[in-house]
Amino acid sequence: MDDRQRLDRATAHLEPPFAVLDMDALRSNAAAMVRRARGKPIRVASKSIRCRPVLERVLAVDGFSGVMAFTLPEALWLVSTGLRDVLVAYPTADRTALRALGSDEAAAREITVTVDSPEHLDLIESLRTPHPIRVCLDIDAGFVAFGGRFRAGALRSPVREPEQAAAVAADVAGRPGLRLAGLMAYEAQIAGVGDDVPGPYGRAVRWMQQRSRRELAVRRGRIVRAVRQVADLEFVNGGGTGSIEKTIAERAITEVAAGSGFFHPRLFDFYRGFTGRPAALFALPVVRRPAPGVVTVLGGGYPASGAAGPTRLPQPYLPEGLRYHPDEGAGEVQTPLLGEAATGLRLGDRVWFRHAKAGELCERFPVLHLVEGDRVAEEVPTYRGEGMTFL
Ligand SMILES: Cc1ncc(COP(=O)(O)O)c(C=O)c1O
Repeated sequence: MDDRQRLDRATAHLEPPFAVLDMDALRSNAAAMVRRARGKPIRVASKSIRCRPVLERVLAVDGFSGVMAFTLPEALWLVSTGLRDVLVAYPTADRTALRALGSDEAAAREITVTVDSPEHLDLIESLRTPHPIRVCLDIDAGFVAFGGRFRAGALRSPVREPEQAAAVAADVAGRPGLRLAGLMAYEAQIAGVGDDVPGPYGRAVRWMQQRSRRELAVRRGRIVRAVRQVADLEFVNGGGTGSIEKTIAERAITEVAAGSGFFHPRLFDFYRGFTGRPAALFALPVVRRPAPGVVTVLGGGYPASGAAGPTRLPQPYLPEGLRYHPDEGAGEVQTPLLGEAATGLRLGDRVWFRHAKAGELCERFPVLHLVEGDRVAEEVPTYRGEGMTFL
């Protein structure tokens, strides 16, 4: 039985649209991530999962420890349900949530928020909460070349050099309402950019990544040494799914963050260092056949975030050989699909898709059907299904 037959059989009782998680693929992806981390713990990026029961399951696997959340309200919610050690990896200006954090002993113990400037520290300190708030200093891990004319990597923190990092760390140390718990430097230009791409673009990516790795290993080491003069750090976090084995090779790094690797969405097919199995899929029903060689499925317009373009669209996955109409792409309520495989599809048949990114899929579906072999073993709510939309 091939994957399409297996998934069709497992979900024969469901009416599409729906989303599934192939648990065997998920387990094999998780095991591969742990192998790549060679003993250093992986902090699980919740944005790339957005389903609490799945988050709990992967955290139970040896090698994964702690959560990297994307908003403070999310972190407060996760801790209220029993999860521990939650790093909110993106700064917050949510005074209400910060007040809640600093007023709740358990939350203040388990949650760390991200800062990168005295402005963040002032905002947190102004709330004068009963419990001190744990903070993590975010460092710019981007790559800069040609005298600053070229830059790769996410625009995050203004803190880039050891002296700047030490200055913010000293500033934190001087404020009784705050505790410096960790450092984070996310090299998006390595972790999130596939290097297995043909042609000159691929060569340029590999050149950039090699130079960036060398530069960052030295700078990150210096930053950590400089900050450790001022504060005891519990953790130094870096990396993402695409860079696990590279990031952990740096001595200064105590843990790596990763999330997308569990679901292995489309954008993660283009890395030389690892492969994965598509674990998160969604099925859309064929609802009409406008012309020979064309079928139309219901819905489908679930583009991923980021700079808009074809790479952000879901991939028509099974049956193989379907493609979008160039004028229509993935539609708001219906999506025509072209290709030879369309000829074999009838009304009500499913087309299986992969999302370009990982967790955003869960903003579209209230549940994930967990597939074990050729049956659905369980149905679990996504964040959306629990009525929790944080962004
Ligand atoms: C701070 C940070 N760390 C790590 C990651 C990597 O997450 P993933 O493994 O899901 O790509 C991201 C993703 O954007 C991130 O923002």
